[in-house]
Amino acid sequence: MNLASVILAAGQGTRMKSNLPKVLHPIAGKPMVQYALDAARTLECAHTILVVGHGGNQVRDAITNYQLPISNLQFVTQTEQRGTGHAVLQARDTLRGKSDAVFVAYGDMPLLQIATLRELVALHERARPTITMLTVVSHDSMGFGRIVRDVDKRVLGIVEEKDATPEQLAIRELNCGIYCFDANWLWDNLDALKPAGAKNEYYLTDMIALAARENERIETIVLDDVREVIGINTRQHLAQAERVMRERINNALMDAGVTLIDPATTYIDAAIVIGADTIIEPNTYLRGNTRVGANCRIGPNALIRDSVIGDDCAIGSSVIEESTLEDQVTIGPFCHLRPQSYLSRRVHLGNYAEVKNSWLGEGVHMGHFSYAGDARIGARTNYSAGVITCNYNGKSKNQTSIGEDVFLGSDSLLVAPVTIGDRARTGAGAVVTKDVPADSLAVGQPARVIRKLNEQ
Ligand code: UD1
Ligand code: CA
Repeated sequence: MNLASVILAAGQGTRMKSNLPKVLHPIAGKPMVQYALDAARTLECAHTILVVGHGGNQVRDAITNYQLPISNLQFVTQTEQRGTGHAVLQARDTLRGKSDAVFVAYGDMPLLQIATLRELVALHERARPTITMLTVVSHDSMGFGRIVRDVDKRVLGIVEEKDATPEQLAIRELNCGIYCFDANWLWDNLDALKPAGAKNEYYLTDMIALAARENERIETIVLDDVREVIGINTRQHLAQAERVMRERINNALMDAGVTLIDPATTYIDAAIVIGADTIIEPNTYLRGNTRVGANCRIGPNALIRDSVIGDDCAIGSSVIEESTLEDQVTIGPFCHLRPQSYLSRRVHLGNYAEVKNSWLGEGVHMGHFSYAGDARIGARTNYSAGVITCNYNGKSKNQTSIGEDVFLGSDSLLVAPVTIGDRARTGAGAVVTKDVPADSLAVGQPARVIRKLNEQ
């Protein structure tokens, strides 16, 4: 079955009181609408239309730059929000003749599980009805439309809460707003929608009554967990959804062999991958596209964003951004790796080290109170307490190059651009303004080479 999807995201989201379009608010680090788009990808939709309205360009920019591409994703603008039926109509010209079935979902319902959607699509494919829809049985109506059935349980239609009679309001089966339509039937009949309700909107839900009147077959999948279909309309909903999503992410990680000491205070974004036997201590944040290897210990109080961490690493109370750590690296507490830091195997950073845009070779030791910016530090070099690259002269950033097996004495200041040769040493407090050749000892301020090492 060839499937296309239409994702509705034109609503303004007034109750969010935000300058950011509602569907771009992140949940577990991922823009809300991306959950629907990812679902469309997983369902292998050949075409996906995102119907945007308010902040449409902003949505387009954010989505286009986000991670994996969605096949044949197109944006359609609904300039005036005249109802869900009108929104779907905006996709007709683009999608007509392109698929057997049309999957309709919302950009503000991020908690829907892919297993549920697969079930919906599978039923549609197997039974080939005119409409397959998702409903939920719940005592909290959440303002959803009611599913009206006849005595034989046949679906007759959907009544919106604000248009419902008291008897209809008592119905506990609710419309989730997620459907699969037979494509030809949908596109041929959408014109039949008439403005309805107090706001004269074109209700997509009226298509169900139309199908029922014409004796078209309607299938339903009935959910019992209402949390899957929470729609985000307010910041409170956003926080609730965040909590549900975080719990799911944490549970999946624990199922995969990761230890979370306290899941309630562990904040892991949707896209994070973590190897088995890694232990995450409380109050740890793993954000963006971070990958953590196996057998690591992270936290407490660590924040890692868009970084790659190898196996067997230990990271205490530190902040790591856009950096790469090979295996067996130990960091912290209280270190800050700023973007483009690369730490090779067995690098050790003690407390209060800051590294920015630098490459550290295997086994470099940077124990205490130090800064390396725009530097290349060779393997096994000892970067003692208080060593600093003076990489900024007030106008430009300059490079520092340090060889292998170098010993930098405490409080050495390396005034870039400068090069320190292999196996060189600097004395405590040296202010290095000129290159130091290999195998030499430099001391003083400004530092001068006083002798070749190993020449007594
Ligand atoms: C809709 C359903 C209701 C269902 C509920 C589930 C209709 C008429 N009613 O109601 O039966 O229980 O969803 O959440 O369909 N949108 C547009 N353009 C528009 C109007 C809406 O893109 O002109 C988008 C919104 O951004 C939102 C989604 O469609 O993502 C649903 O719209 P909303 O106004 O929230 O519909 P409900 O009144 O909640
Ligand atoms: Ca809604």
